[in-house]
Amino acid sequence: MPHPELFTPLQLGGVTLPNRIVVSPMCQYSADDGCMGDWHLIHLGHLAYSGAGLIVVEKTGVTREGRITHGCTGLYSEHNEAAMKRVIDACRRLTRSPIGIQLGHAGRKGSANVPWIGVQALKPDESPWVTVAPSAIALGEGWPVPHELQVPEIKKLVEAYVSAALRAKRIGFDALELHSAHGYLLHQFLSPLSNQRTDAYGRERMKFPLEVAAAVREAWPKERALGARITGSDWTQGGLAPEDAIAYARELKRIGFDYVCVSSGGIVPQARIKVEPGYQVPFAAAVKKAVDIKVRAVGMIADPEQAQAIVASGKADMIAMARAFLDNPRWVWHAAERFGVKLDYPPQYARSRSDAWPGAKLARPRSEIA
Ligand SMILES: Cc1cc2nc3c(=O)[nH]c(=O)nc-3n(C[C@H](O)[C@H](O)[C@H](O)COP(=O)(O)O)c2cc1C
Repeated sequence: MPHPELFTPLQLGGVTLPNRIVVSPMCQYSADDGCMGDWHLIHLGHLAYSGAGLIVVEKTGVTREGRITHGCTGLYSEHNEAAMKRVIDACRRLTRSPIGIQLGHAGRKGSANVPWIGVQALKPDESPWVTVAPSAIALGEGWPVPHELQVPEIKKLVEAYVSAALRAKRIGFDALELHSAHGYLLHQFLSPLSNQRTDAYGRERMKFPLEVAAAVREAWPKERALGARITGSDWTQGGLAPEDAIAYARELKRIGFDYVCVSSGGIVPQARIKVEPGYQVPFAAAVKKAVDIKVRAVGMIADPEQAQAIVASGKADMIAMARAFLDNPRWVWHAAERFGVKLDYPPQYARSRSDAWPGAKLARPRSEIA
């Protein structure tokens, strides 16, 4: 069996990923005023020895108001930084896999309830906060009208991104990823559906995201990796389309970004998204074809052959998975077995490898047995 491309190393900036499989950022809604706790220690600890080429920590608010919910992580205080350092230091003791973090600001999607209560705005007795956005346009019915950001406030937010990036640098992350998708603040500036300003930040909708990108590039070491999650489509008439993703990726590359992850949707609740296996891969492929930047595909990728085909066909340089990792944190080990690739297991778990015990076939889900 030829060595599968999925299990070849990839260089992102100064960081070498041992393979092309990435744990996608996943909010856990389990922080206390932005501080990670024991849930994060176990959750990330367990993904840290998954064998993934990169583990990206959840969207972390650059300000307190930049969180989506009261349970979201932040990097806006010393307490946040110390709590996150405890968790990441522990992961470092377990694994050599690179670890990244996603920084973001929720904008008009903030002040929300955690999903298991219901994706809705906080009620008056749930300590809501005033949300901000490029324009005073609510996300949808039942959501408050956000405060329209004034230019000095926009400048302060650029500083907040830098300050959070410096905290991430001190914690020792290998990669930093700007969240400019899923309808959060940077995406709100990029999309004509949410940005209807008449000033320079509306005439050039990339202005604020690129100011943030340039300032973070300055602050983030060149020998680590820097990327962004971007939007391939708003799935709505008059919204962002793949050409916009290409234009944005081109600018990010010019600023010195190493990679983009192409996702989609989230800017308006009424978008009609055609969700099916690999449904966002064509957006990633379009960016990869047009821009000389490393590209990550994401979204309904769960099968090892599917993942391998995306990388082998050159549609993307790497793939990210979220739910597949929650379902099966051993995904990488099993995919490696399927392709005949020998991975270093943690020695404590080496006896679980299929060639080490006859029960392996019984233990694997049917779909994982080659
Ligand atoms: C529990 C959960 C939390 C998520 N949190 C984030 C996040 O913090 N940042 C982000 O960009 N995407 C987030 N996502 C989206 C995933 O990263 C991913 O893009 C999406 O789930 C599609 O990939 P999948 O089909 O492999 O799950 C989250 C998804 C899940 C399931």
